[in-house]
Amino acid sequence: MKAFLKWGLYVVSALLLLIAVLLIYIQNAWKRTFDVPLDETFQVVLTPEAIENGRYLVYGPAHCAYCHTAKELWPVLDAGEYVPLSGGYYWDFEIGRITSPNLTPHERTGIGSFSDAELKRALRSNVSKKGRALFPLMDFHLMSDQDMHDIIAYLRSQPPIENEVPDNSFNLLGKAIMSFGIGPVDWGMHAPRYRPSELDVIEYGGYLANNVTACMACHTMRDLKDGSYIGERYAGGFPMVSSTPGMVYVTPNLTPDPETGIMHGWTEDAFVARFLAGRVYPDSPMPWAAYARMKEEDLRAIYAYLQTLAPVRNDTGPIYTEAK
Ligand code: HEC
Ligand code: HEC
Repeated sequence: MKAFLKWGLYVVSALLLLIAVLLIYIQNAWKRTFDVPLDETFQVVLTPEAIENGRYLVYGPAHCAYCHTAKELWPVLDAGEYVPLSGGYYWDFEIGRITSPNLTPHERTGIGSFSDAELKRALRSNVSKKGRALFPLMDFHLMSDQDMHDIIAYLRSQPPIENEVPDNSFNLLGKAIMSFGIGPVDWGMHAPRYRPSELDVIEYGGYLANNVTACMACHTMRDLKDGSYIGERYAGGFPMVSSTPGMVYVTPNLTPDPETGIMHGWTEDAFVARFLAGRVYPDSPMPWAAYARMKEEDLRAIYAYLQTLAPVRNDTGPIYTEAK
């Protein structure tokens, strides 16, 4: 009996020690940095064409503006204004509060001190200027070099705005996830170096839906802790918080399944009309008004692409419902 107690004590002490070591590790490891090389050949040239295309992408399809401005400014964005990207939108996730940075060229509080290559690396590889892994809210890793170039040209062309944005505040769970679960995204040579021709409608639509507009990022089931994709692509079911406590949105299934696909029976014109109409639920997390700024041909290309997806039978239930 005594020996048993003695061993029990050893085991408990060893476990406590292990937990203590793990906690100490997490306190530092969550802000660990990664050595992801910068594409030093990448240099942005501010031509009027680049700035114009960049502005279209930032306020339209890529909707950077919807995440990189304060929440209170959404109605102004919805009204079609070009609100500066001074950051400060925040999300209260299970793992803590994440705040979006200021993307205006302010030297101290914005991206004024970032190099072109650092900005590209953030989008391509999910690594911040400081080398830390970014919380995975931006799925633009496979955007073409040209579109990234134009977006950065637009950001650089804007007036600097001084706006100090608070750092993220992760709780213990958040720090553990940042320590073990989240790292750089390395696409190596698979990153497209060009955008498909607009004449190749389906391929171009797929490029927009997957790599620019992020339809896939919300309309696929993901692990809420680290953002990894765990469901069939475009089959929906991903819960997203509403600003009404206790309520969630559940993204619908966009695959052409006759029974459970929300777009079953929609014509191309009906799809375009739905997008031009904008938000129905007042606090829907889908950036409807950004997509309403899109060129009609771009919306039509996305429709054409979604029709080519393999139908997935997945009943996602009500769109707006009580959180489980
Ligand atoms: C869904 C919301 C969302 C969208 C859309 C979005 N961002 Fe972000 N972005 C964030 C958040 C949140 C962070 C900070 C993440 C973190 O700190 O871990 C961030 C970080 C960044 C950074 C990293 C800055 C650094 O510290 O190195 C850059 C650059 C950036 N975003 C640019 C863009 C651009 C350009 C677009 C549009 C193509 C865009 N973002 C679209 C939410 C978003
Ligand atoms: C930030 C997350 C997010 C992104 C990005 C997003 N959606 Fe959604 N989507 C939602 C949510 C949440 C809903 C349900 C609430 C609503 O209808 O606004 C929804 C609803 C829809 C609906 C149903 C609308 C209706 O009238 O019933 C369609 C169709 C749709 N999305 C297509 C798309 C397409 C196409 C894209 C890319 C161009 C896209 N979504 C991007 C979150 C997103």
